[in-house]
Parts: sequence; C-alpha cells; structure tokens
Amino acid sequence: MTLTGRSVTVRVPATSANLGPGFDTLGLALSVYDEVTVTVREKSGASVDVRGVGAGVVPTDETNLVVTSMAYTFEAMGQPVPGVDIIANNVIPHGRGLGSSGAAVVAGIVAAKGLLDGIVDIDSDALLRIATELEGHPDNVAPALFGGLTIAWLEVTGPQHKKLMVHRGVAPLVFVPQHTLSTKLARSLQPLSVPHEDAVFNVSRSALLIAALTQSPELLFAGTADKLHQSYRASAMPETGRLVSLLRAHGFAAVVSGAGPSILVLADGPGRRLEAAELVASESETDWEAMFLAVDVKGASLALGAKRRAQDAKGGSLN
Ligand code: HSE
Repeated sequence: MTLTGRSVTVRVPATSANLGPGFDTLGLALSVYDEVTVTVREKSGASVDVRGVGAGVVPTDETNLVVTSMAYTFEAMGQPVPGVDIIANNVIPHGRGLGSSGAAVVAGIVAAKGLLDGIVDIDSDALLRIATELEGHPDNVAPALFGGLTIAWLEVTGPQHKKLMVHRGVAPLVFVPQHTLSTKLARSLQPLSVPHEDAVFNVSRSALLIAALTQSPELLFAGTADKLHQSYRASAMPETGRLVSLLRAHGFAAVVSGAGPSILVLADGPGRRLEAAELVASESETDWEAMFLAVDVKGASLALGAKRRAQDAKGGSLN
C-alpha cells in the first residue's frame, strides 16, 4: 500500500520535567506548542522547512530529530520508511529545559502513528516505549504525549505512566533566559550516589508534591523542595540558582525547569504569578522572558489530512 500523498499534522506541548523533587519521574505539559505537518512524497529522503524557533540552526534533512524519530518508529513497526516533506512551526524554546527535544521526538513518533493509520496500530504503551528509547528518560515525553501531570516509571516490560489532572488553582509561570544549557552537561554533574537522608527527603517531598498539585496548592512550596539534582547542577547555571533561591526566599514554589536553565514557578493563583514576575524583573542581571502559561490537559494531538480531520472521538487526543 502506498502512503504517497498522506499528510498528518501533529501538535505537541512544551513540558517541564522534575518539578523539584521528582527527578526523571514527574512532568507537566504546558500551553506552548510546536506543530509539524508531514506529507509523504514519492522520492525517498526528507526535507524540513523549519519556521520559528531553530530556523537556520536545526537540520533540514534526514538528520532532523522529527525525521529520525519518525523513521525509527516505522522501522520499529517493521514498515518501510517513506520520503517526507515537513513543515515545522516551532515555538518551544530550544536548550532551555522546556522539553523541545522530547517534543520533536514525540512529533515524529505521533506523525508515524498517523501515517500508518489503518495499516499498523501504535498504542499508548508503544508510543511511550519508543519515545523513551529515543529520549533516554520518560519524564518529558510522557506529558508531551498524554498531557497534564504525569508520573513515569520503568518496569522490566518498559516505561509506564499515570496521568493526573492538576488542581485548577495551580498557575504555572516559566522564566526563560537568553542562554542555553545542554542536558548532557547537566546530567554529567549528577553524583553516582546520594546520602540516604537526601533520598528520603526527596521521597517525602515528591509524594507531597502530588497532593499539592492535585488537591492542596497551599503545599506547593514544601512539595517542590529537592536535594537530588538542583544543587549539583547549580555551577552550570549560576543565575538560575540565584533566582530560584530568591523566589523561594519570597515563598514562591520555584524550581529549575527540567535540566535548566529556565525556572518554573508553580503559583497558587494568578495574582502570585504577577508578584513573582515583578521580583524577577527587578532582580535579574540578564534578560528573562516571563511566560504565563496554563497546564495543557490533552498532550500531543494528531490530525489527518489537509483539513485536519480529528482522528477520533476524543478530538485527536492520544489518551
Ligand atoms: N529529568 C531530566 C533531567 C529532564 O533533569 O536531566 C531533562 O531532560
């Protein structure tokens, strides 16, 4: 069966991983989106028209991360890899700890799912397994795929996730600096082992954080404390560390977003977000963009064909 002419559009949210104590486990989908349209062509290979973030910087050929992730998925499903033309409208900042690489991986995998519609079914478990194989850890790709707040863990059979809905009183605010930080560098600063008491500290805080995010926003400050990663990485992002400490000294539930250098504040109301933004604007030494966001509840969405027909009764959601 030829796929030539098939076209899908995938929209993927930004994500913030870790959320303080939930290292490599917790993630939150946020209302900033990359969107890619993938059309199968006759000729093999790939061309990518990158618009917005990453234009002129990210590869536009078969080495592009969306393309390699799509091809990996076709191969994993035992299907021949088609040639494709892609238009990528990118909005998620790159190299800032907001899940842009996870979003590209998810975009490629979900595009493959859409292109293989009616030929092979790729279920949620397979989507998460493939995305985790490509990204290395599941905490960004789980919320990018499924939306909301996700807990991700590894079983011998593969990665698993539980999606939770966030309390409506939780108001996310992200501060994005001009500079970038590589996740690889940040991960290289992690020690191989940690004191037992620090591990216990994080176990209790991450359990508390789930209660804070789903039921009791007044516990967000205590629930976002961490001893497993942020202090070890602080030398690679000194201004992030200083601003997180400053925000926390003023009672804000501030954490490094993912591997940094962006900062996530989980405010317990819209008014508190404005106060946090004013504090950072007056105390930062460099330029930080304040993004007032919502929690994305849907995750990656898939539309088939030029008219963006919804894929299923859930409006294209993968849940
Ligand atoms: N959990 C990951 C880390 C998220 O902090 O290294 C970044 O990809």
